[in-house]
Amino acid sequence: MARAREVILGVGGGIAAYKSCDLLRRLQDRGYLVTVVPTPSSLNFVGAATWEALSGRPVTTQVWERVDEVRHISLAKDADCAIIAPATADLIARIAAGRADDLLTNLILAIDVPILVVPAMHPQMWLDPATVANVATLRSRGFKVMEPEVGRLTGDDIGPGRFPETAAIIEKFEEAIGAKKDYLGRKVLVTAGGTRESIDPVRYIGNRSSGRQGAAVASAALNRGAEVTLIMANSQLTEEESRTLQGVRVIPVETAIEMHQFLEEEFPKTDVLVMSAAVADARPSQYSEGKIKKGDLQQIELSENPDLLKSIARLRDKQIVVAFAAETSLDIEIAKAKLVAKGANILYLNDVSEGAIFGATETQGIVLTSNGAQIEVPTSSKDSLAELLLDQALIQLG
Ligand code: CTP
Repeated sequence: MARAREVILGVGGGIAAYKSCDLLRRLQDRGYLVTVVPTPSSLNFVGAATWEALSGRPVTTQVWERVDEVRHISLAKDADCAIIAPATADLIARIAAGRADDLLTNLILAIDVPILVVPAMHPQMWLDPATVANVATLRSRGFKVMEPEVGRLTGDDIGPGRFPETAAIIEKFEEAIGAKKDYLGRKVLVTAGGTRESIDPVRYIGNRSSGRQGAAVASAALNRGAEVTLIMANSQLTEEESRTLQGVRVIPVETAIEMHQFLEEEFPKTDVLVMSAAVADARPSQYSEGKIKKGDLQQIELSENPDLLKSIARLRDKQIVVAFAAETSLDIEIAKAKLVAKGANILYLNDVSEGAIFGATETQGIVLTSNGAQIEVPTSSKDSLAELLLDQALIQLG
């Protein structure tokens, strides 16, 4: 489940609820988008305002709120995974019995995604045969239930029942969802889409790039734990594709010159640059403030745009640069020359003749690297290519 992103954080009515505030923050640090669903009783410990402020999302506890959204179903549709922390004895019992008496328990019945349960309660309650049986029921149904830590509880009592450390919960959670976080602490800068060079207020010179490949790289990098900035020129993403960019810092631009300015600002701060944008090689020498009449359109004088990659290379420190080569044949020699000319570490060569690849959801080509690797990419999704490019960039980062 490499793309798990949308997380439901269910919060039960135990004192450890306050520790879940830190859990929420640390999940966000790792690129997860978290919706908090507290039980009504847990609001005695941490109020809805705290969860709303921390998550930046609405927080409700009953199916009777925001009824028009049918929240238990709409949240269920969007969720990739869930954590229930803390899970009290009562909440575990209600889930085991299949009850649906608040939003969280309704939601748990409605979702079919990996769920990590993090119990926290008094040792006597944890060891009670009823709880033991309920936990066994949850495990038999595929829930991952963490063992609570042994130690001092809220009072003087000592035993199993303590809420585990945030880091331990996140480790178990990522194990449960099979997440790969090999880009944690890394900054990834991506350019995507096609620049538009204005002729007059109505017309522009543009290209067929949809921004899909760059968006796929940005989304994959975010999933792998990176902090991601995406300089996006005129994308044609669907609403669903745009949703995968939540958590990515998006800088919208129009022209090559604008993209250049932001690249110069952002490049020194980054570890990896993926230059998937289709940058116009030239722009009209003059922009006409007024619409040019059709009789005057015989010729448009052009000026060459800077080669952004080449010019950015002079700011280079230890950055890994991934370039694209959109050609109308898969000529390895041209690609090798481009890899060197652009000063890139990795180059993806693809054949865009006859309207292929630009705007599509699939791609096909060859990845070349400065250390001599040559990887054939058979027809695959742009998401798979994104993962492959990030794998190669990571190898070169060391
Ligand atoms: N690129 C760039 N600045 C430009 C043109 C392209 O930085 N003015 C980048 C693209 O983002 C891509 C790579 O250079 O990563 C190769 O782009 P491509 O269009 O294949 O090659 P060009 O350099 O434009 O060369 P040509 O059009 O002659 O093939």
